[in-house]
Amino acid sequence: MLRKIFILIVSLSAAPGRGQLTDLLFPRVADSVRQMTDALTRNPFANQPINFSGDLLGDTLNLFSVLPIAIAKTLGSGNGVPSLINNNNLAYLGDNFISDYNLGLGNEDCQLSCDQLIAKYGYPVERHHIITEDGYVLKMFRIPSNGPIVFLQHGLLGSSDDYVIAGPENGIAYLLAKDGYDVWLGNSRGNKHSRRHVAMDPSQGEFWDFSWHEVGYYDLPAMIDYALNSTGQEKLKYIGHSQGTTSFWVMGSERPEYNDKISLMVALSPVAFMSHLKSPIIRLLSPTGGFIHAFVKTIGLHELLPDSNAMKLYRRLLCGTGPIVEILCANLLFLLAGFNVEQLNVTNLPVIYSHVPSGGSAKQAAHYGQGVISAKFRQFDYGTTLNLDRYGSEVPPDYALENVRAPVSLVYSDADWLSDSRDVDELYNKLPNVVDIHKVPDKNFNHLDFVFAKDVKYLIYKRLRKLLSNF
Ligand SMILES: *[C@@H]1O[C@H](CO)[C@@H](O)[C@H](O)[C@H]1NC(C)=O
Ligand SMILES: *[C@@H]1O[C@H](CO)[C@@H](O)[C@H](O)[C@H]1NC(C)=O
Ligand SMILES: *[C@@H]1O[C@H](CO)[C@@H](O)[C@H](O)[C@H]1NC(C)=O
Repeated sequence: MLRKIFILIVSLSAAPGRGQLTDLLFPRVADSVRQMTDALTRNPFANQPINFSGDLLGDTLNLFSVLPIAIAKTLGSGNGVPSLINNNNLAYLGDNFISDYNLGLGNEDCQLSCDQLIAKYGYPVERHHIITEDGYVLKMFRIPSNGPIVFLQHGLLGSSDDYVIAGPENGIAYLLAKDGYDVWLGNSRGNKHSRRHVAMDPSQGEFWDFSWHEVGYYDLPAMIDYALNSTGQEKLKYIGHSQGTTSFWVMGSERPEYNDKISLMVALSPVAFMSHLKSPIIRLLSPTGGFIHAFVKTIGLHELLPDSNAMKLYRRLLCGTGPIVEILCANLLFLLAGFNVEQLNVTNLPVIYSHVPSGGSAKQAAHYGQGVISAKFRQFDYGTTLNLDRYGSEVPPDYALENVRAPVSLVYSDADWLSDSRDVDELYNKLPNVVDIHKVPDKNFNHLDFVFAKDVKYLIYKRLRKLLSNF
């Protein structure tokens, strides 16, 4: 029943001219869906952590589980129904949760930018601007050294900040710098560091006409060439997280000459095939069947915004209500990617919240949504007519993963909401040069844990370090 209602709501609200019927049937939901669409067309980039004085721990616990699980089931996620509030997470939510969180609000790191943080913790830092072939102005940060280059590329809605906000003890950028690497931090088009173009402005829809295809086709090659040119090195080691892996597969297939510039590619939470994806929100945003054109048209060319109105409905469905839930579900990125309280440093959460999400285009999310439905790793689907113009075929072409000749290491986990092990298997079978594949030995390890986990040093970096020194 729930499933039917949900599909009905989503279909009705997307079909032009049916708005009134939706209003009649489900006034509150219709309102939220409209707010979401509205929010996608506006541009308030509010990203401040909120101070909760919460005292109603008991009440909140009661509200946790029923609705989210029902919705996750509705969304057809099959076995291992994901809910943000699962038993494992509950076990780690104690009386100290809110006070630890509020303690973190006083941390000055909340106010510091990526380069200010790097400088604060005693490392040299440089800023670089790179212009892509198609005119986007990207900002890179560098922790310079004479060592081999390691290039770090962030995930969906992320930025260079992702590799430093876990703090000086756990931030992967710092760990690499301590080991003597020349660390370059990329920022793809549209995130908060790369909101510039030689001719367009972020207020224009055209500015947002890109998905991770363009990140892989234009941004990565431009940043990689720039880092290699600046240092005179011939190859670099690439570490990508999430979309930082998707865009790498795009580059490796579409511009295969770039494989020669990579001595090792490490994929943290590799994302290419998505048919088993667990994230309820991305599933909810995924276009189905004939609904695809309406969806793409509705979502349009816009910035993907963490606007609170936009996500209110999802937050309510996935998390219920109450102060704890509102802290954990307050952030769009956690809402999309899930979290694992066991590996969350709650005191550090305000620092993370004040730096993520970092912005991106709605088309990036839509392109992922298409992959969930098509079960293919292929270019953006514009609908039959436009596909014919653009690609010469009614369906978009698959990415030629057999072209990705660079040595690849895949690091994945079972609980990852965005990178399911079955999808990683499929990727593994299609990539021609996988030199290492490793499952993180923690059954609750989730998507964002690859960069923010309390134990990132032991669960990720220890092995990464050995691998990097071998290539
Ligand atoms: C958060 O709330 C507590 C209690 O109301 C207050 O003492 C503290 O100053 C607040 N912190 C911030 C950063 O607003
Ligand atoms: C790198 O250097 C070469 C030769 O000096 C030059 O042709 C090329 O345009 C440079 N590329 C970038 C991205 O700076
Ligand atoms: C948690 O974060 C706080 C504040 O950022 C930091 O001082 C502390 O060392 C971190 N703890 C762990 C276990 O990483």
